[in-house]
Amino acid sequence: MKQICFVCQNVDCKSRGSERLLNELSNKVAERSLDVEVKSYLCFGGCEYGPNIVIYPQKNWYAGVKLEDLPEILDSLAGGPAVSRLDTIDPALKEMIYALLDTGVF
Ligand code: FES
Repeated sequence: MKQICFVCQNVDCKSRGSERLLNELSNKVAERSLDVEVKSYLCFGGCEYGPNIVIYPQKNWYAGVKLEDLPEILDSLAGGPAVSRLDTIDPALKEMIYALLDTGVF
């Protein structure tokens, strides 16, 4: 399955710069010809910890993402290791959202 990089675009994440993150990720993925789809997402429920980005089906969740974190995230999308320092979300919330994504409705 093609990797999908979901970038939350709801109010809280947007107020912390998620729109710019979405645009930058889209551009860089295209520049590097990565086989990754960058998509907006309505809300992951971790609003106070945003901007939130979830990589699926790998199920990597990156919280509080800043522009300067993007090179590492792009490297992980290119097959590098997950950016574990940004994986700070409560496991219960992660499981809930991953179960939702597993339904294939997005
Ligand atoms: S606003 Fe981004 S997780 Fe809710």
